[in-house]
Amino acid sequence: MKQKKVAPAAITIFGAKGDLTKRKLIPALYNLYVDNHLPADFAIFCVDFLAVEAAAYRDYLLEGIDEFSRTGKADRAKWAAFSARISYIQGDFMKTDTFGELKDQIKKFEDKEKVRGVRMFYFAVAPRFIEPIADSLCSHKLCNRDTLDRIVVEKPFGTDLDSARKLNRYLSKRFKEKQIYHIDHYLGKEMVQNIMAFRFANHVFEPLWNNKFIDHIEISVAEEVSVGKRGGYYDSSGALRDMIQNHLFQLLCIIAMDCPKAYEAEAIRDAKVKVLKHIRPFTTDQVFKSVVRAQYTAGSVGGQARPAYREEDQVAKNSTTETFVAAKLLIDSDRWKGVPFFMRTGKNMPRQSSVIMIQFKDSPHKIFKDDIEPNRLIISIQPELEIGLVFEGKEPGLHMKLVPVEMDFTYKNDYAQSLPEAYEALLLDVLEGEATQFMRADQIEWAWKVVTPILDAWKKYPKKQLQFYESGTWGPTAANAILKPYAKEWFHLQHDGTTGTTPAAFDDARSTHLNGDGSATPAPAAKTTAPA
Ligand code: BG6
Repeated sequence: MKQKKVAPAAITIFGAKGDLTKRKLIPALYNLYVDNHLPADFAIFCVDFLAVEAAAYRDYLLEGIDEFSRTGKADRAKWAAFSARISYIQGDFMKTDTFGELKDQIKKFEDKEKVRGVRMFYFAVAPRFIEPIADSLCSHKLCNRDTLDRIVVEKPFGTDLDSARKLNRYLSKRFKEKQIYHIDHYLGKEMVQNIMAFRFANHVFEPLWNNKFIDHIEISVAEEVSVGKRGGYYDSSGALRDMIQNHLFQLLCIIAMDCPKAYEAEAIRDAKVKVLKHIRPFTTDQVFKSVVRAQYTAGSVGGQARPAYREEDQVAKNSTTETFVAAKLLIDSDRWKGVPFFMRTGKNMPRQSSVIMIQFKDSPHKIFKDDIEPNRLIISIQPELEIGLVFEGKEPGLHMKLVPVEMDFTYKNDYAQSLPEAYEALLLDVLEGEATQFMRADQIEWAWKVVTPILDAWKKYPKKQLQFYESGTWGPTAANAILKPYAKEWFHLQHDGTTGTTPAAFDDARSTHLNGDGSATPAPAAKTTAPA
């Protein structure tokens, strides 16, 4: 848990009536408050267009906590104390009066507390409002002390390289880089942060972490959810922009980066940028060989009927927007030359499962007659949080017969407490001025540089090789084809369907579980779910 003492803080959220505020930001701030991580002096100013009574607004936020907070329904006494710090400011983001009013309220709070503390401005707004809000913050001198004042910007950071550059230039003319927190909530996930600890606090894997020992790596973020009510945004975005360019690239960077000089924001960001710079650029030809895009058709997920993507609200009937992407990337660095990184994400898949699978090379010197399964390191980010190492062992008995077994570290078994949500960790980081888990502008631009040739190729040939997959399946078969010759199909974690995961059950026909007494029992036959 964080130990730093946070300075008094005036927290402003633009987009007070938006989903993000209700589902994530306020529940996260409330949990930080309940766990005593917020400073004694803090105030929250929520700004939005709509006219809402203060009491009704607080009720609306309370509903959000009751429904979405990891800790369940809010404790009414604590909520009363917390919500007394929340003010609603009705105002148009495009009008200067709004910022005059905000300034008055922040000043009043700071005068009352007799301290000029941290000011955090969270942009939970549509992209078109970022520039006008940034302008008004500057013209009203609301965010002018670079050691204390911070803005937090949510993705999308532009929609392509040019727009991202433009936005970065715009913001960098108004704020210092250290004042700008580009948030990617994947960086706040407990297991994602744990990958840094796993890789760089343990020397045992580092000598193996390269092309001499690693065969290939799969990074897969499967989502059970559909685009739901977000069709309007999603149809002009698609999975490549929505997930790969940001969340999956974050995972890629953490897995592929060299050890940074120190656990410190700039060193970590430098190491991540280096990974992106070394990704081999895609030619148009390569896009159609190494990147698969697909869209879901009607089907069912978890027994619930799901409409086709083209039938979703605010989606064009002839849309070619992808809801699934699988891609093969190569990193031309000394460490990774020749090791393919396979990335996959999709909506309306059979279940949520974000997993990184690192497959090691076979031993060059084989002394056993049995077929040997490759060693695999499996990092599950969600919904289960676990790290497992699959290796060969001797099956108990009188003869030397090999079976794959595994060593497992699971949060469920090792830690009883409920884990902080990504937004809790990241909001506290902003208040503490800790930028390690945030992206720097150049990282965002490099990520756009990698995906731009793919976007261009798809724009030029909108229907070429667009695949379709039934909702409730793992995507089109073409996504397996790009794995060749490294694998026949994507790696999947097992799931017993009733009690969550079977922690020790990695997807392998011959997998064996070690019992507590050290004996071993053969695992059930493989349940690899074949793609549609
Ligand atoms: C968001 C995307 O950034 O991340 C969504 O816009 C996606 O489309 C979500 O569903 C996934 O986040 P998580 O934390 O549920 O994996």
